[in-house]
Amino acid sequence: MAKKSPSRTTAAVTGKVRTKATQNAASHSDSTKNKTSPTSMNSSIEEELRLLREEVERLRKASQQPADLPTLSSGGFVAKEVPEDRDERESYAEGLDLPGINAPDFNLVSDFLTFGVTPWADALVPAYMLDNYFRIVDWNLAFGLAFDRTMEGRRGQHVSEWVYFLDNYKAILDQGAKEFNNTKLPPIHIEPIEYTSPRYGKIHAIKRAYQIPKDAEETQGWLVILEVKFDDLPTTYRYKRDVFEALRLDMTWSEYAMSYDRVLLASRVYHELIEHILGEQVPRGGQGELTRLPPRSRILDLGAGTGNLSLHLAKQQRGHTIFAVENNRMMLDLLRDKCHDYLRSDALGPGILAIKQDVNTLFGLPGNAFDFAILNNVAYSLEDPIKCFKEVWDSLKIGGEIRVSGPQKSTNLEKLFARIAADLVAADRMSELNLEFEQVRQINQTILRPILFRWTVEDMKKMLLEAGFGSINYHSENAYGGQAMIVCAKKQRATPNPMTRSVKR
Ligand SMILES: C[S@@+](CC[C@H](N)C(=O)[O-])C[C@H]1O[C@@H](n2cnc3c(N)ncnc32)[C@H](O)[C@@H]1O
Repeated sequence: MAKKSPSRTTAAVTGKVRTKATQNAASHSDSTKNKTSPTSMNSSIEEELRLLREEVERLRKASQQPADLPTLSSGGFVAKEVPEDRDERESYAEGLDLPGINAPDFNLVSDFLTFGVTPWADALVPAYMLDNYFRIVDWNLAFGLAFDRTMEGRRGQHVSEWVYFLDNYKAILDQGAKEFNNTKLPPIHIEPIEYTSPRYGKIHAIKRAYQIPKDAEETQGWLVILEVKFDDLPTTYRYKRDVFEALRLDMTWSEYAMSYDRVLLASRVYHELIEHILGEQVPRGGQGELTRLPPRSRILDLGAGTGNLSLHLAKQQRGHTIFAVENNRMMLDLLRDKCHDYLRSDALGPGILAIKQDVNTLFGLPGNAFDFAILNNVAYSLEDPIKCFKEVWDSLKIGGEIRVSGPQKSTNLEKLFARIAADLVAADRMSELNLEFEQVRQINQTILRPILFRWTVEDMKKMLLEAGFGSINYHSENAYGGQAMIVCAKKQRATPNPMTRSVKR
């Protein structure tokens, strides 16, 4: 990602000014040689000062202005509904002899990781990966956008679960039964795809499935690349811009992952935030009740990052089962490494399930099953937070609670980073972590800044109530060193969910 770091910008600008200064100095010495009058010397210095002032003013304005929004350019998230005749489509598939339809259960931990480093498409081209049983293993952001996250929550399921969303599903299923049931599989298989996206309209694509060999004999799986065509040029550009923006944000999270833990785990204020949202150390200033999670709770940690909150809970050995849901590969890799001793691949608990999923949709996670859902510093980056909160509502038990923390309109980043710096100094870690501290600060000050200050506590309460939550049981504007809000709401029986979905879980 081409990201301008302000320090580089400043250096470049300083360089520019220095060059001018050097030039001016040179012309100044020339002019002295030429015996120029002190008046013209003064005016050259004044001119240089004027330029410098202008440059400083330009920089000051630029730093106050939001850069391009990293997300949200193409409107909010629009879900592709499960086709009304899905059962009919399934019956059609059952009438065919589809390969892999009776595959063993997919293991989210070991099967997902078997693939390790595989061939992959250019990040701007939609692509997905199947294993040798034609089960969905992974897909990229470009695919998720073009096909409206229709694979989200379907990892490990047979690819026909995705094919049911296609306009030409019959032709695709027929081809699957015909071409992939032989002992000799085709090295490459090509076919047209027809799909109607709520966001981009009609999509025609050429699908190329490349066999990934395990060795000379066996097949490891399939890399499927889609050459997508939209109906008109404006939609093509809109899609490309959306992909670019999604990638840019994803790369930011990857870059963030590398310095995040080193800086924040060494800073007391970050631990205070975790203890606060978990109701373990509740500072004064909040309103309502915030309790500690009871033993054996089932918890969703949404946008779990490198797993600090999940690990904090798992280490307490209080029997919690934690579903850590995270979309960024780098964050998730770190989470898996750090939480290794507590990872499990089933929901029987206690322990942590690490799930790669976009939290804009929680399809595939059990409904009415969780006691708590926690979004610690995540909601600000969501395309459509209300949609996500509705999904959370669905996944919580009656009486279950959502806890959301994050920046608010009044957040002062400078004060927050002054506090983090003070914590690092107090822990005698500042000189060791200076570079990482700067990196975390720059990412917040530049790339994340435009999306950080979206709401007040009142806005957040409204969004939670709109999503179906019955009551707000706690809120504070005084979290994270006084620079973040925490808002908690409960699911109550009396509130009908406006978005109950007729999907299988
Ligand atoms: C600031 S970090 C917070 C991480 C963690 N909750 C913590 O307390 O340290 C935000 C995280 O949310 C993740 N995230 C953002 N949008 C997401 C989405 N739509 N689905 C899943 N994860 C997402 C990012 O990848 C990143 O790891």
